[in-house]
Amino acid sequence: MITTKPSMQAILGDGIALRLLTEHDLSRTLGWRNRDAARIQFKHSEKLMLADHKVWFEGKKNLTDAYYFIVENKDDGQAVGQVAIYNINRTNQSAEVGTFIAAPEAEGRGFMKRALLALMAWAFKDLKLNRIYLEVFATNLRAIRIYESCGFSLYGQAGEMLLMQKTTELNMPEGRASANV
Ligand SMILES: CC(C)(COP(=O)(O)OP(=O)(O)OC[C@H]1O[C@@H](n2cnc3c(N)ncnc32)[C@H](O)[C@@H]1OP(=O)(O)O)[C@@H](O)C(=O)NCCC(=O)NCCS
Repeated sequence: MITTKPSMQAILGDGIALRLLTEHDLSRTLGWRNRDAARIQFKHSEKLMLADHKVWFEGKKNLTDAYYFIVENKDDGQAVGQVAIYNINRTNQSAEVGTFIAAPEAEGRGFMKRALLALMAWAFKDLKLNRIYLEVFATNLRAIRIYESCGFSLYGQAGEMLLMQKTTELNMPEGRASANV
């Protein structure tokens, strides 16, 4: 069933929930993204200003082929990171995932891996995708390890970026999706 983004329910995963990014989150997510350790992992690695970040969000929030999520810790509702799925192609049943950024105080606690698993479960089931892909700097071993452990495999390289994909939901660890799209 197709519903609009505002009526979308949270996507529930193991100890985490994914809710849509809102304007109120932007100063916090900008702080996560502008940390040196985070921004160097993105192709556009310059520090961003809040005004630019708001313009970026305005351009994204109503897209029907992209969803930007805040990852919340289910125990206390705290925002622990950001994930996204975009370039959703309903004809080819494919989409790209990315914009993975952990809140510094929550890094290394498994939230981001569980967020990616929940996002994929939702995308395969509710968006009816059969291929999810991403790109990551070949030097970003921390992220690559998460992607591999979530079932992504290498299918190419573009300059410094590795291209990874997951083509079916088979053999994926259990995930639950409760959103209407
Ligand atoms: C990549 C990122 C989102 C991961 O967040 P996180 O909170 O560490 O993720 P998790 O805690 O869910 O997963 C950590 C996993 O990485 C592994 N890991 C942690 N540090 C590592 C390191 N230095 N090298 C390799 N693997 C590492 C852990 O062992 C764990 O794997 P496991 O579950 O198999 O044990 C976070 O580090 C981040 O925001 N990085 C900067 C932005 C970025 O690189 N985004 C991805 C761009 S493609």
